[in-house]
Amino acid sequence: MIALDGPSGTGKTTAARGLASRLGAGYLDTGAMYRVIALAALRSGTDVGSPDAVTELARRVQLSIGTDPATPRVLLDGADVTADIRAPEVDRVVSPVAAVAAVRELLVAGQRQIIAAVLNGVGGIVVDGRDIGTVVVPDAPLKVFLTASADTRAARRDAQNTAAGLASDPAAARESVEGRDRIDTTRAASPLKAADDAVLLDTSDLDREQVLTALAEMARERGLLDEPAEATR
Ligand code: CDP
Ligand code: CDP
Repeated sequence: MIALDGPSGTGKTTAARGLASRLGAGYLDTGAMYRVIALAALRSGTDVGSPDAVTELARRVQLSIGTDPATPRVLLDGADVTADIRAPEVDRVVSPVAAVAAVRELLVAGQRQIIAAVLNGVGGIVVDGRDIGTVVVPDAPLKVFLTASADTRAARRDAQNTAAGLASDPAAARESVEGRDRIDTTRAASPLKAADDAVLLDTSDLDREQVLTALAEMARERGLLDEPAEATR
């Protein structure tokens, strides 16, 4: 069980999927689960400023998430919303949704069930989020907290938006990641922070391969990977 936490754009998703593939483990993107509830709120016109309304919605919708690092699919009421949950509109409302304590309780219970099932099945899982090492699985044998400068994170998010066919807007990307970080770090319920026993990894000057190598080395040091950390692909 490997926990990867950190703010937006630090490379958690990329690293978690790569590491899970490398280890032959499962992968759980907990952020995608909060994004599904945020998308459902947008589609149903639910007031994201009302914790009661958001909680009622979260209890009502059917959320299903895959754990295969090659094709992590997310379904909302049976429909594939894997791409839809990455829209900038979802970015704008997901943090208020994720700040609702009852929504977190519901999703954390689901996350623990999925993690237990995958650990019983394929035997290993890499989980990325904000509170994995602090709340969801505080006894994880490896916890990593990824960081990166605000400039780097905004540039990565802007490049991602451009790749998705949206116009480049670095200022808006920066405002979006910083705005979410502010809400995520200051909320009362499970705020974003590094666990005391997490290893900090600054990815500002590292490319995807270098991040993966650093994580694989940490996994190897803890006996979670037998081969050398340097990838042989
Ligand atoms: O991909 P990115 O890092 O931008 O975000 P994400 O991991 O998809 O998470 C989206 C949002 O969900 C975050 O900004 C948090 O508000 C929330 N989240 C959370 O509160 N707890 C988690 N374990 C994962 C995500
Ligand atoms: O999950 P999180 O928001 O922390 O980051 P991500 O979705 O894994 O990465 C955001 C973007 O930055 C993606 O387009 C990655 O390919 C890119 N990235 C990068 O350029 N260099 C890294 N070391 C890690 C990610």
